[in-house]
Amino acid sequence: MLNHDELLYWDKQHYWHAFTQMSEYEPLVIQRAEGVWLEDIRGRRLLDGVASMWCNIHGHAHPEINQAIVEQLNRVAHVSSLGMSNATTIELTKCLVERTPKSLECVFYSSDGSSAIEVALKLAFQYWRQCASPEPQRNLFMAVGGAYHGDTIGSVSVGGVSRFHSMFDPLLFDVVRGPCPDSFRIPIDMVAKDLVTGYLASYEDLFQKYGDRMVAVIVEPLVQGAAGMVMHPPGFLKGLSDLASRFGVLLIADEIAVGMGRTGKLWACQWEGIEPDFLCAAKGLSGGYLPLAATITTRRIWDAFLGAYSDSRSFFHGHTYGGNPLSCAAALATFSIMDRTDRIAHVGRQGKILEDLLQPLKLHPHVGDVRIRGLVAAVELVRDRSSMEGYAWAERKGWQVCEAALKRDVWLRPLGNVIIIMPPLCIEEPELEQIVEAIQYGLNQVNWND
Ligand SMILES: Cc1ncc(COP(=O)(O)O)c(C=O)c1O
Repeated sequence: MLNHDELLYWDKQHYWHAFTQMSEYEPLVIQRAEGVWLEDIRGRRLLDGVASMWCNIHGHAHPEINQAIVEQLNRVAHVSSLGMSNATTIELTKCLVERTPKSLECVFYSSDGSSAIEVALKLAFQYWRQCASPEPQRNLFMAVGGAYHGDTIGSVSVGGVSRFHSMFDPLLFDVVRGPCPDSFRIPIDMVAKDLVTGYLASYEDLFQKYGDRMVAVIVEPLVQGAAGMVMHPPGFLKGLSDLASRFGVLLIADEIAVGMGRTGKLWACQWEGIEPDFLCAAKGLSGGYLPLAATITTRRIWDAFLGAYSDSRSFFHGHTYGGNPLSCAAALATFSIMDRTDRIAHVGRQGKILEDLLQPLKLHPHVGDVRIRGLVAAVELVRDRSSMEGYAWAERKGWQVCEAALKRDVWLRPLGNVIIIMPPLCIEEPELEQIVEAIQYGLNQVNWND
């Protein structure tokens, strides 16, 4: 066992952390966690204000999820999904088919969100080449401005966050991109119009122009996380889904972040009653315990891959640990606790409490917007409230607020000027108060004139 100093050394010098500038990384080494609390190797307790990046649903070290994993471990830890199955993964398949919109009946497993997106993109592409009336000219995807769908090359291609993605431009496939349906930063030419109508008009133009070449349109329903917790105007999702149907284009709903109850319904799609052709789930699917992702699709897609062995119509794609039984056992326990505790109703209640708690922050001269949907909230910092001009990325105002919040024992991560709050869904009022108090404290600590 490494001692504390050795842990800090090996962490800082050899462990390459995701989305982290290693030259300035200050090790934060967690040794255990319980409920909404993380504990570092010095015994310091920190409130997990971002649910370990959208993942945690019922709290860390939940006895029922732990037990489900251990029981599964005693049966079998892993079996391949290549031509083989196991009872736990089959049970989860039934559970997902029963809990997703009616037309979604078939589940393909992988281990992370980016892979679930790759699967959807490839299934959709292959579908048009193998369906009853093939349309092989369909080779374009449509995506939304500011989209984030993961970090593999396919998911980066449909992504639209230039800070993360532009470096890889030469490697990416062509995508038709519509505007980011932002309700806060509204394009000037849109101000006079009804927002949804305005955004959808731009998408309709793109469908008119490229619809017959489009494979699928992909969207993060309701909330675009990495874009800065952009919240869509109500009706946009339904309108986009209607356009996709009208032009015969498949719809991929990326529920990786917003699914699993985060917005106050199990799936964000349910708010607008849409039935996508693909629903991608990951992150909270295993309760935030083990890597697991699912691409859930329709019988129509499945059928296009059937045929004789010699026809070579199979989906030649797989992830070694896709549908891993330990992860699936954690997911089944997560759904079981969700039902027993009525967790989704809890999200609605706690979301309302959080919304009320956040109201005073709107009075701060450098808070331009506070927005919330279920248990995902954003506090957007601005240099100037009259113009709503943001700070340059390099000024790190969001980071300064979050670093100060750490002094109040709350762990948060900003997205540029946006402080994001997305705690474990089991959070209670006193802990929500602590998060908001820590942000308030952070806002007061920043030197805004730097
Ligand atoms: C909306 C969305 N899609 C896809 C992904 C990628 O998931 P993963 O990090 O598990 O690959 C993320 C991750 O943050 C996400 O927020």
